Amino acid sequence: MNETAAPPEIAVQTHQLTRRYGTTLAVDRLDMTVYRGDLFGFIGSNGAGKTTTLRILATFLAPSEGTATVLGHDIVKEADAVRHIIGYMPDFFGVYKDMEVTEYLDFFGACYKIPAARREQTVNDVLELVGLTHKRGELIGALSRGMQQRLGLARVLIHDPKVLLLDEPASGLDPRARIEVMAILQELQRLGKTIIISSHILSELQSLCNRVAIIEKGRLIYSGPVQGVRDQMAPGRVVWARVADDPAKAAELLRQRPEVSEVEEVDGRLRITLTDHEVDHAIVPEVLVKGGFRLLEFREDELGLEEVFLRVTRGETA
Ligand SMILES: Nc1ncnc2c1ncn2[C@@H]1O[C@H](COP(=O)(O)OP(=O)(O)OP(=O)(O)O)[C@@H](O)[C@H]1O
Ligand SMILES: [Mg+2]
Repeated sequence: MNETAAPPEIAVQTHQLTRRYGTTLAVDRLDMTVYRGDLFGFIGSNGAGKTTTLRILATFLAPSEGTATVLGHDIVKEADAVRHIIGYMPDFFGVYKDMEVTEYLDFFGACYKIPAARREQTVNDVLELVGLTHKRGELIGALSRGMQQRLGLARVLIHDPKVLLLDEPASGLDPRARIEVMAILQELQRLGKTIIISSHILSELQSLCNRVAIIEKGRLIYSGPVQGVRDQMAPGRVVWARVADDPAKAAELLRQRPEVSEVEEVDGRLRITLTDHEVDHAIVPEVLVKGGFRLLEFREDELGLEEVFLRVTRGETA
């Protein structure tokens, strides 16, 4: 890292953001920072509080407590300013099925007071960006689900917002349409937008986002680079071994080593947790062989990112 580089500029910041619905605590003292230019994944399972948070940031819902800013503007005290710099795509948006694509975008352009003379060009530009130019004259009802989703993206881009808040923009799409949406988001990031995208699938955003936040029951449980999720959420490094006889005795031997934090017998195999990722896993076969055990199998645990996420959101790791 270049030490003289200026610190990254903050695009969105929440401070102890809280929202209650009656007795339900939907968002619970959330502190989250998104930097300018981030393609930021906002991950949580159903009911975690993603939509509630995004609606608050989009100024459609007031926080019960706490504050948030978008490019320095307070979402409550300067709601109008915030609305002009954000593009919010809700999880469900009504589509005007009997309207033509260009008519629809022109309508939203007018809502944002883009002068009529400039609107046509703007509409053409956003259609181009989402790859819908060839559908410009179609009725919205005649577009596929993926195209309607892209039209939704075009709509939030019409006033050239700096920050995009997208609530599960790829949900319900087939794999190809998902990839198309993700490619559009990468292009938008390249154009300098800051993007927050929510999803309940961590692995889906793994290669797309540079940073993620994971929330569960309204609380932030992780925020940082995608690569850090596994290290922080599942700190021990797990390896598996199978010995020819007496696994209980082999387990006992391994437990005496300081590098080993836990040994469990699972279906005749030993599940060995090393104290951290830095420990050389070769010590396991070494110890076993020196102890006179015949080693039949030895491998590293392939804990996928999604599994880490599921464990964390089920409360299985601290
Ligand atoms: N209008 C509402 N009235 C009452 N409770 C609500 C309302 N909206 C959300 N909630 C509750 O707030 C919590 C968070 O909901 P939210 O919709 O923000 O979650 P989410 O992470 O977007 O979930 P999903 O993945 O299902 O979209 C849930 O317990 C939900 O039942
Ligand atoms: Mg939601």
